[in-house]
Amino acid sequence: MTATDLFDPHYYTTVRQPLLEASSLPAWCYTSAVFYQREVEQIFMKSWHLVGRLDEIPNPGDYLTHDMCGESTIIIRTDNGEVSAFANVCRHRGTRLLDGRGSCRAIICPYHGWTYDRQGTLNGTRGMEKTKRFNMAANGLFPVQLETWCGFMFICFSDEAGSLEKWLGNLPEEFHSCRWDEMRCTRRKHYDLECNWKIYVENAMEDYHTATVHRATIGLQECDVMDSVGEWDSIWAETERTLAVLPEDGVPFPHIQGLKGRNADGAYFTVVYPATFFGSTQD
Ligand code: FES
Repeated sequence: MTATDLFDPHYYTTVRQPLLEASSLPAWCYTSAVFYQREVEQIFMKSWHLVGRLDEIPNPGDYLTHDMCGESTIIIRTDNGEVSAFANVCRHRGTRLLDGRGSCRAIICPYHGWTYDRQGTLNGTRGMEKTKRFNMAANGLFPVQLETWCGFMFICFSDEAGSLEKWLGNLPEEFHSCRWDEMRCTRRKHYDLECNWKIYVENAMEDYHTATVHRATIGLQECDVMDSVGEWDSIWAETERTLAVLPEDGVPFPHIQGLKGRNADGAYFTVVYPATFFGSTQD
């Protein structure tokens, strides 16, 4: 099959049928490097992505880095207390500037030592003093769009996505009573998955497997699909006990005060497209 054939609409006719009549995506959508590259260009580069919590970088100079789809981004607390995002790439010869997370007084390139302040402005170019027509002001770090909602920081590489507010649609309203803006990040765990990204999202968003795979914990959960406006979907399961803590783990946290509607009566499993996932339950 050629690269052109992969995208022939003919192969996707049955996929696009109403849910109960539709077939799954063809197998190559999960294995083809060409198909994946198209997804990166058309989906990942034009979407909003969760990169962390504001409370993870509370002080000026605190930063974290985020890597996805071959792009690395610095998210940093600037001198005025705002949070900005920049491409993690030196403007001289493209060297990666920062790794992991930490705190810095300035961003110093490990290759030739160009220095950027915490606002991304280039302010030190050792050995370039005699160079003519070099414009320091035009060689600051490339900004990346960053917006926040309830303390969650999202970045986006394209103007085509519109604002984060538009992307999230009525999600903030649906979860308003959860008071996520008051929460703090207590643990961050990184793990690599040996599967196509769609497998993970599809697994997270279906309740078909819980009666078997999770029979000892979550058990049989029949979920409702929520009405969503914006680039998200959510399924909801009614449950009196929190699903965040297993019964044998003892007493869960108290319920969040002021939960309303379905937030008080169950758990949500929510994907913000393409690949941000929120699990939320009463505690
Ligand atoms: Fe960064 Fe040369 S590549 S200073």
